[in-house]
Amino acid sequence: MTQTTAIAHPNFALVKYWGKKDIDQNMPAMSSISITVDSMHSKTKIYKNLSSKQHRLFINGEEEQDISKIIPSLQYLSKISKSNDFLVIKSENNFPTSSGLASSASGIASLVTAYEAHYDIELKMSDRVKACMLGSGSAPRSLLGGFVLMDQNRSYRCSQILGKSDWPLDVLICIASTESKKISSREGMEISRKTSTIYNHWLDINQEHINEALEAIREKNILKLERVTEKNCELMHEVMKTSSPSIVYKTDVTRSCVTEVENLRVLGHKLFYTIDAGPQVKIICDPSSSNAIKEKIIEKTDVIEIIHAGIGGSPRVVNEN
Ligand code: DP6
Repeated sequence: MTQTTAIAHPNFALVKYWGKKDIDQNMPAMSSISITVDSMHSKTKIYKNLSSKQHRLFINGEEEQDISKIIPSLQYLSKISKSNDFLVIKSENNFPTSSGLASSASGIASLVTAYEAHYDIELKMSDRVKACMLGSGSAPRSLLGGFVLMDQNRSYRCSQILGKSDWPLDVLICIASTESKKISSREGMEISRKTSTIYNHWLDINQEHINEALEAIREKNILKLERVTEKNCELMHEVMKTSSPSIVYKTDVTRSCVTEVENLRVLGHKLFYTIDAGPQVKIICDPSSSNAIKEKIIEKTDVIEIIHAGIGGSPRVVNEN
């Protein structure tokens, strides 16, 4: 095979990871739970670089000068494949890159999936997790569809809690800004680990939030999932805020979306929100409310656009030349 292409979807955490246990291995300091979304994807093509002895990475057609994030993943994979090939990697995102929309998770997961197929190496799931994690701590969760647990107590084992059609919720991604974030997650997490006054509390409460979210998902109880997701999200943003320097990813548009979520709830709609390391607001809702929510958010806030997604599946190889 001369070239291989794979697609993976981003995932959004309901119980979040913010802080690392081991920087060299890029290991999260906590467990996390996410949903994988459809509609949005990274499509990554790889082939052998025949013109120079280096890996080359292109994202949305532009060559990246700093490829340090993907080198550990490639080194890990090349030990298994026993290939010394240098690769050309061309990744395209059909959504804004580097603005808190988990483009690195879907990018890395699609790269690992393409690599495995290209070299026909049939990885163990634990090797896929490791290869993804070395690139991005949230990327292993994109290896599975549906609702996913990454369990730090079980060597970061990733498992599916429910499949994408077991509980078909909608995900409305409200784009508050398409600018790249000023502080990367990686930098921000380190600042928080070293300086946030509530970082230890954040670590201590993790298992409690995981248990609550697992129960809510297994029961398909949207109200329970709302409670734990929003409290976990707000606590993470408090950890960021209480860091020194203080880290704030929310903007006025973010806040006005949250106000509308609360107003819509009063009107009887079933929905909740989460926000990552960027200003975008991800609304998870019962599909019967999606259109009403979109109309209200567009009418009342300054969002740029709303991406309408459902719960997505696992990565896949796509045959194209
Ligand atoms: C706020 O996985 O992007 O989205 O491991 O340094 O690449 P690196 O960070 P990344 O961090 C994700 C942080 C988060 C919460 C989450 O997805 O759990």
